[in-house]
Amino acid sequence: MTQVIPHTPLLRSKLPAVGTTIFTVMSALAAERGAVNLGQGFPDFDCDPTLVNAVTEAMQRGLNQYPPMPGVPVLREAVAAKLAKLHGHHYNPNTEITITAGATQAIITIILAVVHPGDEVIVLEPCYDSYVPNIELAGGTAVRVPLTPGTFRPDFDKIAAAITPKTRAILINSPHNPSATVWTEADMRKLQDILAPTDVLLISDEVYEHMVFDGKLHYSAARFAGLAARAFIVSSFGKTFHVTGWKVGYVAAPAALSAEFRKVHQFNVFTVNTPVQYGLATYMADDRPYLDLPAFYQRKRELFRSGLAGTRFKLLPSEGTYFQCVDISHISDLNEADFCKWLTTEIGVAAIPLSAFYGNGFDQRVVRFCFAKKDETLMAALQRLAKL
Ligand SMILES: Cc1ncc(COP(=O)(O)O)c(C=O)c1O
Repeated sequence: MTQVIPHTPLLRSKLPAVGTTIFTVMSALAAERGAVNLGQGFPDFDCDPTLVNAVTEAMQRGLNQYPPMPGVPVLREAVAAKLAKLHGHHYNPNTEITITAGATQAIITIILAVVHPGDEVIVLEPCYDSYVPNIELAGGTAVRVPLTPGTFRPDFDKIAAAITPKTRAILINSPHNPSATVWTEADMRKLQDILAPTDVLLISDEVYEHMVFDGKLHYSAARFAGLAARAFIVSSFGKTFHVTGWKVGYVAAPAALSAEFRKVHQFNVFTVNTPVQYGLATYMADDRPYLDLPAFYQRKRELFRSGLAGTRFKLLPSEGTYFQCVDISHISDLNEADFCKWLTTEIGVAAIPLSAFYGNGFDQRVVRFCFAKKDETLMAALQRLAKL
């Protein structure tokens, strides 16, 4: 009998540059130091019990087996009805709406479905951390175009200049994480004009679609015929209904694009949690939970901003999302990442450096707080930050 010496084969990493993210580092540090965690973007309050009851009821009714691959029809219909009502674009729920395991799975599945080795995909930095690794896993190249430093507005000359014959898609995100800016109607029209003569696809990450403040509107790509015809629109029930841990979202796209998306989706997750889908469909019969969301978060934004007003943080605008960015340059000479570590350990409040959202770690002395927190959590953080 030959002696077996167990060994684990060495791997050649597909994502050699990916390590532990700053989100994990900051959350661990916050927990260790008992800091108020305004770093990672998730609510610390519970969702509406009506939603929990709707999901519980679906489980009790025995809706616990595999649903249809693209999602349960009632939820796809509810999503299509919402998109038609809010944006005037009629998606066919049978062929153009797919329920996903959150926006993260939606985005990687879109990218795997459309990006071929050698393709370029434009991302606008700072951007959500999954985009670039997703593109690289598909064998594509991420072409990073900066949003204008200071204002984080899209620079359409730079975007237009980045388009080449190899460009397969552009990925946009409004309302925007981390900068909390919101694209205007004029921005969307400009993008539509730039893309019109091309075959570039649009991946529109709209997970914060229901968090736009000051009476302004969310300009979904669905509102612009020239964009909708080439767009995968991605959203997340987790963000909208305070259930980030449920990981359910959707993709809306023209039938031809949805068909390709579903080919990958069915071998990626195949289907998504059945009772949660039925519960969401029941809950969506009432539109108030998402229509009331801007007022709900705007009040928290005001509470947080008015508390920070007495500090030396310079507040950047927060037009949407549940994030507030601040300029730290009047408080400290530290770089963003070191400042966040110092803030967590010495002041007891965790934040996220914007440099974490850039491939080259670009440091502009701005950090991000999340205000999707109970009022008492925000007050506790403000009390600590008041000394700055
Ligand atoms: C811009 C952006 N896109 C996508 C996601 C992921 O959403 P989900 O939790 O539904 O996967 C997030 C979550 O933080 C986000 O900020």
